[in-house]
Amino acid sequence: ETGYFTYDPGFLSTASCHSQLTYLDGKNGKLMYRGYPIEQLAEKSNFLEVAYLMLYGELPQQQQLEEFRRIIIHHTMLNESLKSFFRGFYHDAHPMAIMVGVVGSLSAFYHDSTDINNPRHREIAAHRMIAKMPSIAAASYKHSVGEPQVYPDNSLSYTGNLLNMMFAVPCEPFVLNPVAEKALDLIFILHIDHEQNASTSTVRLAGSSGANPFACIASGIAALWGPAHGGANEAVLNMLDEIGDIANVPKYLARAKDKNDPFRLMGFGHRVYKNYDPRARIIREMCHEVLEKLGDANDPRFELALKLEEIALNDEYFVKRKLYPNVDFYSGLIYRALGIPTNMFTVMFAIARTVGWVSQWMEMISEDNQRIGRPRQLYVGEKERNYVPIDKRG
Ligand code: SDX
Repeated sequence: ETGYFTYDPGFLSTASCHSQLTYLDGKNGKLMYRGYPIEQLAEKSNFLEVAYLMLYGELPQQQQLEEFRRIIIHHTMLNESLKSFFRGFYHDAHPMAIMVGVVGSLSAFYHDSTDINNPRHREIAAHRMIAKMPSIAAASYKHSVGEPQVYPDNSLSYTGNLLNMMFAVPCEPFVLNPVAEKALDLIFILHIDHEQNASTSTVRLAGSSGANPFACIASGIAALWGPAHGGANEAVLNMLDEIGDIANVPKYLARAKDKNDPFRLMGFGHRVYKNYDPRARIIREMCHEVLEKLGDANDPRFELALKLEEIALNDEYFVKRKLYPNVDFYSGLIYRALGIPTNMFTVMFAIARTVGWVSQWMEMISEDNQRIGRPRQLYVGEKERNYVPIDKRG
């Protein structure tokens, strides 16, 4: 019992920390940020308002939200010296490789937000990370397509600014699509935090050593990149392109069940959810609406995804193992419809999850008697033995 929620006794022994941020009920497919159900936040709130909620614990009053937005847009610019850093990467560098490098370097530029024992430094670092991730993401994308970087336009919304920095070019006016702007804002809300997933636990462990906040977020970006985690949204689209046609679905489902085949049904399954991922349910509904509005309703990949989901959800292997679509199964289809290239899908995830990472880092680093994380292991190696000189080995 934790006062409000009951956990299975076995769960408590695996819990790595206490947190007031996010509640996850994997059995019933429930997710709440600071006590608010994700469905209500997705329907009624916006990304910056939820970011405020995660950082400060309460929904903001109008004036607090306006002040928070003013602070965030104040930090959207990047230090001009970083331009040469972006230029140093090969043109075909994966944007996640650039993100890890650039974010990790920020402590070299922003010395007034690296003293983790100074609450003001901590808050500025959190604001800087939330504000600069879209600018770094867009600059990483522009480098990969050989176009000039676009500076932030602080008259735009958080997602409007990101789309502008990604797709505007100096030679013609950029027309922001409100459908894309709103769809991205909603997807970002759904990706903000998710308890102790691999990347968030990585950020907490890095932070527990006293590393500066930018280094901690860079470690989270690195962990998120893996195809079993945040890289799954990119892997789902690559998988749908590889399957190609509904006729091939049985062959790929057979591969997913074959323990000798490394192929997994990307976008399916979850370590915690043994029910439908509530975020996937929201994104699935939104996917159809966005594709309709953007004129991609007949995207064969969407039809294929719906058919793949229908077949898998009626397949004994998936039903018995409680494998349902997760947040990554549909998000890539929407990103693709918004014109975002596949290699930027996980970058989108990283932008949104930065709010969860900095909130979890702030919660941990502000604790009294905060100690370094130190997971232990079961040793299953050789018994003690004596050294053998090289001429006696063999
Ligand atoms: C995210 O942790 C988080 O909260 C992550 C995340 C977040 O917001 O931070 O929700 C975001 O990372 C979502 C997950 C994205 N990844 C994918 O979609 C990749 C495909 N999924 C699998 O790799 C897998 O489901 C994982 C990695 C997500 C979970 O791995 P687990 O915990 O090892 O899976 P499990 O214990 O539930 O597996 C039970 C069984 C096993 O088979 P058996 O040993 O019982 O025979 O199901 C099998 C698994 O092999 N299985 C799959 C499968 N996922 C699990 N078989 C085929 N295809 C799959 N996708």
